[in-house]
Amino acid sequence: MKTRRPRDESRTNGSFERAKGTLGVVTAVPAGDQGASHASLSEARTIGVVGSGIMAGGITEVVARSGARAVLRARTDAAATAAVKQVAAGLARQVEKGKLHGDERDRILGNISTVTSLDDLGDCDIIIESVVEDLTTKQELFRELDRVAKPSAVLATNTSTLPVVEMARVVKQPERVCGIHFFNPAAVLPLVEVVRPITASDETIARALAFVAAIGKDGVSVLDRAGFIVNALLFPYLNNAIRMLEEGTASMQDIDTAMKGGCNFPMGPFALLDLVGLDTSLSILETLHSSFGDENFAPRPMLRALVEQGKLGRKTKAGFYVY
Ligand code: 3HC
Repeated sequence: MKTRRPRDESRTNGSFERAKGTLGVVTAVPAGDQGASHASLSEARTIGVVGSGIMAGGITEVVARSGARAVLRARTDAAATAAVKQVAAGLARQVEKGKLHGDERDRILGNISTVTSLDDLGDCDIIIESVVEDLTTKQELFRELDRVAKPSAVLATNTSTLPVVEMARVVKQPERVCGIHFFNPAAVLPLVEVVRPITASDETIARALAFVAAIGKDGVSVLDRAGFIVNALLFPYLNNAIRMLEEGTASMQDIDTAMKGGCNFPMGPFALLDLVGLDTSLSILETLHSSFGDENFAPRPMLRALVEQGKLGRKTKAGFYVY
């Protein structure tokens, strides 16, 4: 996976202000989507983000940076404050490095507000949930979002592998549900997968793609199949790297060095597993394995053992590596 391609700053530093006039021009919109009016495509000014983890914080930052209002909803004030603190710390590092002006940092933070009640997401044009990868939890959340969101709002999930249609089927307007899947770290990686469940309307997909373009990301459209594009291709590779280590073919460090130097990947498979989180990786592999039944997706015993020991990667300061 190559992430270090030349960056087109006008896109990666996405701006709703700059993109506003061109939001109707969405090259990836299929022919049948032409019914979606330009006005409806450009209306996404207030974006709700549900969750308080690394991905929710990253998505909030990307939205706020683009000039839209980001409303982060966490279950407690403490969790909301911690999530925004993390965003602020990342921005402060960029100011220190001279990559971001202090005024710009203040503008970005000024675009972020936090709430603890879902009822406060009523004026959001798009709501993106990024909570734990558990279908029951997400379905309960979607039932609530359906109740509080205005009828025109798009309801999106940042799920990595769960079927988006399972979230769509619990709401009254399933046509407004889709996947908007970011990559870690969300503030840095240019890709966003827009996932189309069978229930989604053309307008929902067009609005999701327009939103992704407006925040300066590269949107791709994909059907609602486990792992979408990236994880379906990435995780057999990561899992087989663990198999190679288990079989003693090479050391962890040498496998990482090999894939960095031999393929020009920004990080090797074990560093990447630690970044994604070993619990998240395990759950992605389990979903892929149950969907496709392919042995390449069957989670390796070493991965299970590390998760059982609570070694979940960077977030717990230990995974394959110690941090
Ligand atoms: N938040 C914000 N900015 C960050 C960041 C973070 N968490 N981590 C790094 N950055 C920024 C740095 O500030 C730096 O910016 P600058 O050049 O403007 O100063 C830039 O990214 C590069 O960072 P570093 O110099 O510290 O380090 P690297 O050059 O080694 O890059 C990396 C770090 C961006 C993480 C890079 O190694 C990378 O792209 N790795 C691959 C990550 C990847 O493949 N992610 C996908 C995982 S799969 C997934 O997310 C799907 C999900 O469903 C599981």
